[in-house]
Amino acid sequence: MTIDFAALPHDFLWGTATAAYQIEGAVAEDGRAPSIWDTFSHTPGKIANNDNGDVACDHYHRWREDIDLMRQLGTNAYRLSIAWPRVVPGGDGPVNAKGLAFYDQLVDALLEAGITPSVTLYHWDLPQALQDRGGWPERATAEHFAAYASVVAERLGDRVSHWATLNEPSCSSWIGHLEGKMAPGWTDLTAAVRTSYHLLLGHGLAVQAIRAAAPDAQVGIVNNLSTVYAATDREEDVQAARRHDGHVNRWWLDPIHGRDFPADMREVYGVELPEQPGDLETIAAPLDWLGLNYYFPATVADDPRGQAPRVRSVRRLGVPRTGMDWEVDASGIETLLLRLTEEYGARKLYVTENGSAYPDVVRPDGTVDDPERQDYLEQHLAACASAARKGAPLAGYFAWSLLDNFEWAYGYEKRFGLIHVDYDTQVRTIKGTGHRYADIVRAHRSKAQRAA
Ligand code: IFM
Repeated sequence: MTIDFAALPHDFLWGTATAAYQIEGAVAEDGRAPSIWDTFSHTPGKIANNDNGDVACDHYHRWREDIDLMRQLGTNAYRLSIAWPRVVPGGDGPVNAKGLAFYDQLVDALLEAGITPSVTLYHWDLPQALQDRGGWPERATAEHFAAYASVVAERLGDRVSHWATLNEPSCSSWIGHLEGKMAPGWTDLTAAVRTSYHLLLGHGLAVQAIRAAAPDAQVGIVNNLSTVYAATDREEDVQAARRHDGHVNRWWLDPIHGRDFPADMREVYGVELPEQPGDLETIAAPLDWLGLNYYFPATVADDPRGQAPRVRSVRRLGVPRTGMDWEVDASGIETLLLRLTEEYGARKLYVTENGSAYPDVVRPDGTVDDPERQDYLEQHLAACASAARKGAPLAGYFAWSLLDNFEWAYGYEKRFGLIHVDYDTQVRTIKGTGHRYADIVRAHRSKAQRAA
């Protein structure tokens, strides 16, 4: 698989990504309070094997070793998320100095290692105290989020320039509040739509807060988007694909681009938005970049009796799939990067997550050979470079994930890491794909140096 390195800028960010609850562990240490994920994962039956994030990859204690692994990969960027319940354990009110200090030292060590930190403020771990007061369906949660963003930006903004407000708000809204498969585990359309609204409002308010605290900050948002195909060319299925596109893509992209929430989807949901004057302008606060998380495409058919958006997934036969049972289709990442460029006028794009889970085996010689993941990585990088060649302003790629980690409702069964984690011993082993990624990073760097 050839990657058109020349299409990528010389200062391209080659990164890896993680999220706090998925790797940190130490859930009751140094003043951290529970989040909705602690509650959800400790509710029997919600997570495969009843796993939880209590220990995870123990990154809270092993972060030095993990930065060392990043060095070995040769990456020059790292996307991490801050745990709101570590920094403001009650959701609002007192700041936990020890929580902030953890991220402070992490950022310093990353910078010292020549690794640019890209900080995401919300990767799903809402403080449980705020959930107890109604959670994201309540407007106050958006306001508390902005206050927390301000605390973090004031502390780290002198050293961190890359900021993302939210990670994948569609998952928090639709999977967390409509499908019930993620925290807080609700199945309530009204709550889900209100959540989506307040997350985006919180995003807009947080953009203002970050800019006020760190005027040079480069601020963006991370959405997980999908290419969407109709299962057949019947009009009903074509309309279903349009609705699914509205549900997973346009509902999130249109309002942040000042285009209001899509009218067709307002009708599909039939839920009144908790709008107040000025909100749409807040939500559409200008951004410096957009983050794309891409994993798989969607093929859907009409499901007239299903819940909004009344579509059902259709399984395409003969298509390769990952260990998540997700289709492998690298053309989707190119299509979406070009869509963000052409339809939404993106001026700077990052692939903030992309990766695959496969059942890895540590061989007797201690190595992990993962050719399918390597193939997935190479195909998607080639597609990214192709999008860049066609004009997408792609400035970086963050592989999901640095480490195997707590994969939400799938627990520890699914492994996305470039680095294998033995959860009994916490031993880390760079997988074949990790070594391949290091080669790719090196190859691009030396081409860029030769061209300079
Ligand atoms: O592990 C998740 C991550 O937290 C958000 N994006 C998708 C990944 C794989 O499912």
